[in-house]
Amino acid sequence: MDLKILREKIDGVYRNALKEIESIKDEAELENWKVKYLGRKGEIKRIFSLLPGLAEDLKKEAGSMLNEVKNKLSGTYENARNSSGGGEKEEVNLSFPGKPVFPGYLHPISVVTRQMTGIFEKLGFGIATGPEVETSYYNFEALNIPEGHPARDAWDTFYINEAERILLRPHTSPVQIRTMEKTSPPLRVVSVGKCFRRDAVDATHSPVFHQMEGFMVDRDINFSHLKGVLTYFINQMFGEKVGVKFTPSYFPFTEPSAELSMTCIVCKGKGCSVCKSSGFIEVLGCGMIHPEVFRNVGYDAGKYSGFAFGMGIERMAIIKLGITDIRYFYQNNMRFIEQFI
Ligand code: DAH
Repeated sequence: MDLKILREKIDGVYRNALKEIESIKDEAELENWKVKYLGRKGEIKRIFSLLPGLAEDLKKEAGSMLNEVKNKLSGTYENARNSSGGGEKEEVNLSFPGKPVFPGYLHPISVVTRQMTGIFEKLGFGIATGPEVETSYYNFEALNIPEGHPARDAWDTFYINEAERILLRPHTSPVQIRTMEKTSPPLRVVSVGKCFRRDAVDATHSPVFHQMEGFMVDRDINFSHLKGVLTYFINQMFGEKVGVKFTPSYFPFTEPSAELSMTCIVCKGKGCSVCKSSGFIEVLGCGMIHPEVFRNVGYDAGKYSGFAFGMGIERMAIIKLGITDIRYFYQNNMRFIEQFI
């Protein structure tokens, strides 16, 4: 036998093998194919068995041709086995529990917001929302802050459309007006949302932050109701032992106005760097709703009275969760966020 005939034989086996493997449909057929071509009594072995009778140089040449084809077919076999899902790979075990899908965490601002609204909901307060982009009327005039009033200075900033006096709201108090315009007394409402001010970023300030606004209107509502509701809220939020203090203050939309301070939860009132040695930390502004505000929404100020309050959510969260820097809230660092679920 000469080399040419041998080469044709080997080529023929190789081509047939490739052609056959194309139409293989399952693993059993693949195993049969392997036996037929690469098995102990397979095609390749059969040609190998012809070699001993050949001349030395022919034997060598044909041997290496056969080895090459054998390796190629082994590779073809492995590929087919892997792509059919067999091979060394583990079979899929359908009874094995699935990989948990990470659902994410509530942001600490959301956690604290829910706690806060939950306390007011227990007292029968409903929840309202208002737009973050507000008109000057709802932001200021309706809240008894006329043009040129000094209280506008810190708030009169982020105009979207200056000609039409539309701006990013600096507080949630406009929700009072929007809600009262739509609803007649009695009402008890809280509202939470984003506010915007021209504050430079530092450990305690952020130009975008969150506030909660609350208000209650009915006949014969007086300052005792305000004190009762807010003291209850602070005690629910921070514990019964926390004391509250009301200090006279000024807001254009309330009269009288007050600021509520609570005993510093770091030093328990002894005085520390957090409370600047006063033993108290200021947490919110409040007061009896100004009759002018009632007139602006068409309520009879002789018949109805009410109280209102506003507080920063971040400030609440900082005190509640013991956070030292407001910037942590906005950095999307999961190691921070996942501590407070
Ligand atoms: N709007 C005030 C602020 O952003 C907070 C505030 C104070 C709201 C007194 C009120 C209130 O409803 O009665 O500083």
